[in-house]
Amino acid sequence: MDAAPGAAVPRRFPAEVGEPMEHRRISRAELDAMGAFRSPRLRAAFDAVDREAFAPDRFWGYDTDDHGLHEVVDKHRDEEAWRRTVWGTHRSLILQMDDGVTPEQGPARGDFTSSISGLDIVFEKLNRLDVRPDSCVLHLGTASGYDSALLCELVGDGNVTTVECDPVLAAGGAANLARAGYGPTTVTGDGLVGWPPNAPYDRIVSTAAVRGVPEAWCAQAGEGAVVLTPFNTLFAPGGLPRLGVRGGVAEGRFVGGACYMWARGHRPVRRIDPPDRARKEASVLDPAEVPAGDWADRFALGLLLPDVAYACRGEGEGRRTQLWDEDGTSVAVVRHGAWWLPDAVTVYGRRNLWAELVRAYTVWRCEGQPHYQRFGLTYDARGRRLWLDDPAVVLRSSPHRNGTGWD
Ligand SMILES: C[S@@+](CC[C@H](N)C(=O)[O-])C[C@H]1O[C@@H](n2cnc3c(N)ncnc32)[C@H](O)[C@@H]1O
Repeated sequence: MDAAPGAAVPRRFPAEVGEPMEHRRISRAELDAMGAFRSPRLRAAFDAVDREAFAPDRFWGYDTDDHGLHEVVDKHRDEEAWRRTVWGTHRSLILQMDDGVTPEQGPARGDFTSSISGLDIVFEKLNRLDVRPDSCVLHLGTASGYDSALLCELVGDGNVTTVECDPVLAAGGAANLARAGYGPTTVTGDGLVGWPPNAPYDRIVSTAAVRGVPEAWCAQAGEGAVVLTPFNTLFAPGGLPRLGVRGGVAEGRFVGGACYMWARGHRPVRRIDPPDRARKEASVLDPAEVPAGDWADRFALGLLLPDVAYACRGEGEGRRTQLWDEDGTSVAVVRHGAWWLPDAVTVYGRRNLWAELVRAYTVWRCEGQPHYQRFGLTYDARGRRLWLDDPAVVLRSSPHRNGTGWD
């Protein structure tokens, strides 16, 4: 890893909310109406940082065409559309797919591996982060540098350390920041191990999803620090826990939803490789009962079963639920049609994942189908725990600080 403190250049983009920045004004009004500027300091930061200075001339738009492809938004082809997209409140701008393997030349489909996040979630997270003017902040995922610049406005350049693992993106983000007059510490490396030279941090915020709070973050968090990070389970992505750190214990609830790409290092392996031999059994549960559609319910269930991936495909009698574990060697396939017959479930491998799902579903039902925001996490020397409403009401635990599944 290498760190490059940026040069202290005067800001190029002072507050300028007025003509001719029509889309910027619309976006500001919409964010205001949404309550995104719960602190006036956030409105001032929005006004001070020009998002256009951080957006490349070409990127992929979030929405897809009839073929499911993301179209390239090109400033030189249609500047108006480019500007409108850059200031779009609810959409991210896709900077990279498939770790850069997918070429940027034309419409494409792939896994998003870098983007400039939508303004709505950027400001929602800043509200939740609740920085003080002198908070020392560790930020994972520099990418374009846009939200690092917002942090610089809020706490001062000298208090911001931003880490990006992709060297090309890291260089681009650092250049954007320097050109716009911001000088945080920019680090090329793995943000999951933090950046010890600038610790302790008062706030640790990630723009990529983890499946567990890294030990390094807790070690580098000062007393009373806040950790805010997108959090995925294999079962369902998109939670946003906010943990307070005191006396070596990181603890807090899920405060909202935040759909982000996986942090490199926490991405699941995408492989399904079950043994040839399977066993058949009956199901005690109608597979249609498992909450497939409602994200909040699915995420809650995923917290109880974090290391099992879920998919549901097909229609009518042909509909199937499929579950698989991290290394793809345990798999369960459940038939929706005539699910009560003795051969509805096909189980491969060591773990009976359908039985595990039924157990997790039963716990969730017996607890009154709690909303995911009633769940919280604790990480300490005793390992990690999932609790409901109160840290003393532990639903699942593991003596291992790292990892995903519960013991
Ligand atoms: C949603 S983007 C960040 C958006 C950025 N904050 C902006 O405003 O442009 C997430 C970024 O996190 C980076 N990332 C993923 N895993 C990482 C890791 N382990 N360490 C550092 N950066 C990581 C990705 O390369 C990607 O650029």
